[in-house]
Amino acid sequence: MRKKVTVIGAGNVGATTAHRLAERGYADIVLLDIIEGMPQGKALDLYEASPVIGVDAKITGTNSYGPTGNSDVVVITSGIARRPGMSRDDLLATNMSIVRDVTEKAVAVSPAATFIVVSNPLDAMCHVAYEAARLPSSRVIGMAGILDTARYRSFIAEELNVSVRDVNAYVLGGHGDTMVPLASYTTVAGIPIEELLPASRLEEIIDRTRKGGAEIVGLLKTGSAFYAPSAAIVEMVDAIVLDQKRILPCAALLTGQFGIEDLYVGVPVKLGADGAEQVMEIKLTPDEQEALAASAAAVQGLVDDMARITSERAAEMS
Ligand code: NAI
Ligand code: 2OP
Repeated sequence: MRKKVTVIGAGNVGATTAHRLAERGYADIVLLDIIEGMPQGKALDLYEASPVIGVDAKITGTNSYGPTGNSDVVVITSGIARRPGMSRDDLLATNMSIVRDVTEKAVAVSPAATFIVVSNPLDAMCHVAYEAARLPSSRVIGMAGILDTARYRSFIAEELNVSVRDVNAYVLGGHGDTMVPLASYTTVAGIPIEELLPASRLEEIIDRTRKGGAEIVGLLKTGSAFYAPSAAIVEMVDAIVLDQKRILPCAALLTGQFGIEDLYVGVPVKLGADGAEQVMEIKLTPDEQEALAASAAAVQGLVDDMARITSERAAEMS
């Protein structure tokens, strides 16, 4: 029997994710959105491409959770996206309600699923989904590090005129301005980056990587990136559905690793059929460790903001 993947939110990221998954053909796909007709229309359009692509997977669009039941993986992309002038954190108050609601509904019918959180601000939304799902933390994972690392790898490949496949790197930390590209783990075909690029040029690339999401928002003007994000999501779905045991940068709940306690932060994770099977506690330089701690502190600030918003809302209701 084919695996089943549900994508919640059929907007730019969700629909593009469904498109990439449909072309893989290894899973039936359910696309869910609150807008009536829209997920159904996109699912039908994707399904009608199947004879040309040569895949037999079912693709269903829906506004209700029944058809999502017994999913193996649930991808959460629902929420609002950034527009020019907005930071990811501006999305906090709106998206925390949406992510809580959709997670509770999805887990009720798919209690064995692994959840991949995408909605922003990413690390904070992982906390919301983790609390709402009441699953082991290995089954609630966030996507951001693969995207941030892909941007960094692309910029380095372009600069050195080499294949993107030969650039290996990690960008860790929270998905925001404090993200931590690791120069000590950046290599091109095994050659340390400092042998190929002057430190000042690498710093410029790191700065562009940190601002990579805003660069796309500034160009698109009506929304944020979705082609690279969906490619990153599907790399995670592949690793879980096909039990690939990939080591990929993902947001995982840390329980003391890297000196960080009870916080979702981007770190290298072994991804397989059991979700986040292991956090790989790689060695960092003192500067990198300090930058990771600062990034974790920024995530903690958002978690604290959410607690404040929740208690203010409770006070208004009483
Ligand atoms: P979009 O606006 O194109 O799509 C969002 C969709 O969510 C809309 O179709 C909307 O109707 C739907 N939605 C809203 N509330 C819902 C609910 N309660 N139930 C079901 N569906 C609901 O936005 P886009 O570009 O697809 O981005 C989605 C989210 O992903 C944003 O929060 C964005 O910031 C985030 N994102 C995160 C990335 C990451 O690296 N973690 C990368 C790219 C985007
Ligand atoms: C990005 O980095 C918007 O978080 C999204 O493109």
